Amino acid sequence: QTQYLADYRPYPFRLNETRLRFRLSDHATEVESELDLTREGDGPLVLDGGAGLKLLRLAIDGRELEPGDFTREGEVLTIAETALPGTSFTFEAHVRIDPGANTTFEGLYLSGGMFCTQCEAEGFRHITFYPDRPDVMGPFRVSIESTKSILLSNGNPVSTAPGRAEWHDPWPKPAYLFALVAGDLVAISDSFTTMSGREVALNVWVRPGDQDRAGFAMESLIKSMKWDEEVYGREYDLDVFNIVAVDDFNMGAMENKGLNIFNSKLVLASPETATDDDYNRIEGVIAHEYFHNWTGNRITCRDWFQLCLKEGLTVFRDQQFTSDMRSAPVKRIEDVQTLRARQFREDQGPLAHPVRPDHYQEINNFYTATVYEKGAEVIGMLKRLVGDDGYKAALDLYFDRHDGDAATIEDWLSVFEDATGRDLAQFKRWYTDAGTPRLRMDEAWDDGKLTLSFTQVTPPTPGQDDKPPRVIPIAVGLIGPNGDEVRPTEVLEMTEATQSFAFEGLGARPTVSVLRGFSAPVVLDRDLDDAGRAFLLAHDTDPFVRWESGRGLALTALQAMAQGAEPDPAYIAAIGELAGDDAVDPAFRALCLQLPPEDEVAARLSDAGIVPDPDAIHAAHLRLARAVAETHEGLLDRLYRQMTVPGAYIPDAEGAARRALRNVALARLSLLDGGARAAAQFADAGNMTERFAALAALIRAGKAEGALVEFHEEFASNRLVMDKWYMVQPAAADPSQAAAITRKLSERDDFDWKNPNRFRALLGGLSANHAGFHAADGAGYDVTADWLIRMDGANPQIAARMSSAFETWWRYDAGRREKSLAALQRIADTPRLSRNTSEMVSRMMAAK
Ligand code: ARG
Ligand code: ZN
Repeated sequence: QTQYLADYRPYPFRLNETRLRFRLSDHATEVESELDLTREGDGPLVLDGGAGLKLLRLAIDGRELEPGDFTREGEVLTIAETALPGTSFTFEAHVRIDPGANTTFEGLYLSGGMFCTQCEAEGFRHITFYPDRPDVMGPFRVSIESTKSILLSNGNPVSTAPGRAEWHDPWPKPAYLFALVAGDLVAISDSFTTMSGREVALNVWVRPGDQDRAGFAMESLIKSMKWDEEVYGREYDLDVFNIVAVDDFNMGAMENKGLNIFNSKLVLASPETATDDDYNRIEGVIAHEYFHNWTGNRITCRDWFQLCLKEGLTVFRDQQFTSDMRSAPVKRIEDVQTLRARQFREDQGPLAHPVRPDHYQEINNFYTATVYEKGAEVIGMLKRLVGDDGYKAALDLYFDRHDGDAATIEDWLSVFEDATGRDLAQFKRWYTDAGTPRLRMDEAWDDGKLTLSFTQVTPPTPGQDDKPPRVIPIAVGLIGPNGDEVRPTEVLEMTEATQSFAFEGLGARPTVSVLRGFSAPVVLDRDLDDAGRAFLLAHDTDPFVRWESGRGLALTALQAMAQGAEPDPAYIAAIGELAGDDAVDPAFRALCLQLPPEDEVAARLSDAGIVPDPDAIHAAHLRLARAVAETHEGLLDRLYRQMTVPGAYIPDAEGAARRALRNVALARLSLLDGGARAAAQFADAGNMTERFAALAALIRAGKAEGALVEFHEEFASNRLVMDKWYMVQPAAADPSQAAAITRKLSERDDFDWKNPNRFRALLGGLSANHAGFHAADGAGYDVTADWLIRMDGANPQIAARMSSAFETWWRYDAGRREKSLAALQRIADTPRLSRNTSEMVSRMMAAK
């Protein structure tokens, strides 16, 4: 049952208020609802309601409905027009649900004895009958009866007494933003005074014993609230803001109005249990969910096709926030890395879809890197095209014009058109057309005049064969032969399939620094030799292009080595030069020292029409890393000793930068010293960042047996740390062992597979091991398929999401293709396979 954007129809009733009463109990929770509705269009009253709702009573204006008044088919309840009074009426439903049996972690469920909810996208229909669509909004009154000590819902508290609480959310909201939490929780509390002087009570709720790991989340929240006032002029709008950490959660976190619910891994952190990356993500996701209060909640989406309206914008905002809090160049490079690893991979395979899809079977399958990360890139391009002032004017207009609305991408583009006078008809293709454009640049030099000719081509994607040219902002600067910048950044606007731009009055032929700051999400293709790349790596003023030039050298080297060539001395020399330059930010040096992921090398080869061999790529990767280590052993050893961070661990950008560089040095040196340094670091480290990097290095050196036992003993009672233990073993394993290790770990008693974090750790660890997942004997595919089939019966969202490990199956040799297709077929043939997984598998199998 495919849903189409073109089929959108407004709901024929207005919702004036929703009142909910919950009597919580593990296996028999009763939900009574009252909806005040006013007719605005024709037809019966159609409500969504899952099969798990035990219907006890339906009434209109207090009159109980009889069997003839309604029908219930699949997930739809229809109240006949004849049972409805003229204009305004109150619809009542009384249902019973079983949260204790809910393994989908959608709707109302139990996690570690705590009741909690996840309603986006369509979870509310598993709580009660409701118009479960984002364009039906109303204020909510909620009462909760439970024996738990803390009872929370959206909005402001009205009353609390033992065993009972009432909440009122005055801001109209769709059902997907509803939340309820009931548990024996403790809070760390603080407060925030908004720019207009209102005092907001802030709480981060955790299980008793976890309070000492919630402080960083609170700090991050306060920074986010301040930043949104300063940069976007957005003020918080309730008396309280609650965050709750739960152990069983399908995604990262959820922006429910006034009651954000988080995966505990994105709240809990202490130096002993969390890495610098964990801290970084916590800060970013706390900000993301908080920023949704305006971009998502005050202005929501008309329908789920518009998901990028809130997600692309909110990701863009959290990226800006992190740039301001930490290093902007490092953040930009990290974001490009993620985009390429996840979104380019998606966009170039069978799961490609537009930033705004126009059809789907299961919306939960569209919470993707394309909607989120490419959605954010598209906004970055808009900002580049209209300028900072234009962007600000457009956003002010957006908040002003659409506050309280369920809006569309058309509304979004209109505010930019109206605020800046720019026609965005062509730009809109970034939202409607899938696929990553290939941008080719050619240069011509003629006596002081440099002409850059660009050609753009977007390969076909499923259901879209024809790709008209898009607007591409191309940021360009010119670097003179002596390394000085002779032309600062200029944004060229490409609108045609091929287009040229000239720079005149140049003394000597410069080196072109192009796609500065990654000004558009395209694959750039240009003829630049090793010397040119090394020159830009050394001299460019744009940090992104500097990093990109080093990466280009590495990719070319790896590609050649995967086909038998020797390590490229030009790359090794250039990277050593940069790594040893103490004037350069250690975090940037750490990024430059990393090699491009093996999956990306495979993508490049495949793109060039060469069938990638995962084992050869892995061997090349290892060999290049070793060559770097051998050539620069002295330098790496110096960095390793120099980059220690004295004093107590602080999760700030500066310390994290030094630890990052030191840990890359450790990884390289461990290829030479048999793991000696890693063993010492593992024994001495006072924080998880150093501990965990040492453990990974020991695994790669084949010397981790004792360390793995020790680590397990020390952290057995900490689920989040144990997830790391489960993840790193398949991820860092020798590819020939990865599948067997995964299977063995999956048989352990503490492999609590129904916990999404634990499942993702192990199976995600395997799929992050490129040559291990794609082992020639098919063992990686098999263990993954076995577990996806099992997971699908419990939690379809997680199974479907993880199934994308297979999305590149079509790239490989016939043997691998046959084995991965057989694994996919086995999943497809599973009786009662969920709609989620069945959609994913059938899309993937349709490739090539
Ligand atoms: N809106 C949430 C966020 O991006 C994601 C929740 C998605 N949940 C889901 N089941 N698809 O912050
Ligand atoms: Zn979001």
